[in-house]
Amino acid sequence: MTDRGRLIVFEGVEGAGKSTHLQRTAAALRARGWAVVETAEPGGTAVGQRIRALLMDNTSVAPAPWTELFLYLADRAEHVATCVGPALARGELVLCDRFSPSTLAYQGYGRGLDLRLVRQLDEIARQGVQPDLVILLDCPVEVGLERAGRDDRFHRESVAFHEKVRAGFLALAREAPNRFVVIDTCAPLEGVHDQILAAVSRCLGLD
Ligand code: TMP
Repeated sequence: MTDRGRLIVFEGVEGAGKSTHLQRTAAALRARGWAVVETAEPGGTAVGQRIRALLMDNTSVAPAPWTELFLYLADRAEHVATCVGPALARGELVLCDRFSPSTLAYQGYGRGLDLRLVRQLDEIARQGVQPDLVILLDCPVEVGLERAGRDDRFHRESVAFHEKVRAGFLALAREAPNRFVVIDTCAPLEGVHDQILAAVSRCLGLD
């Protein structure tokens, strides 16, 4: 194990395959002897689970965009303070399903909130924690929505909204090419898995 931990974040539009690939990556790394923490936003803590329930509820009135932003940031502040931060301090490898890039893509690019302000507020929520690597799993929006087959509040958003989110993720990746790797998940599963492991190995200095 290293002297400091690493944070690797899996990102992408709905149905891009984040959860499946995160689990497979965690299993592969554990097999190589790494202490791996698997976690997710929103909902990676007990408080976060309650925030997630509010955010995903499609039976009541949707929160206003700034309310929605603050709920995601409250979830992140709790997650960083009680889960991600302590794991990194113990030198562990944290694999997180969504993190700050989702907030920039969904609330910034998708909802149209001022990106500069969203970045500033997110900086407060993440308390200096930064992903070492962002694996952006990319696929066409319609393919992902079909694959996900869910019916929560976000899955009911228009295709146009999800297109803005996807374009946002890709813009973030272009802005920080050293931190992001973009992987096309329309490719066969095994090939995607191999590309992810190669990117993670580079990040961990294993090759
Ligand atoms: P999940 O389906 O990957 O669990 O994510 C839940 C939803 O929350 C998903 O539609 C993306 C959305 N989301 C945001 O809008 N902003 C955020 O900051 C995060 C972490 C997720």
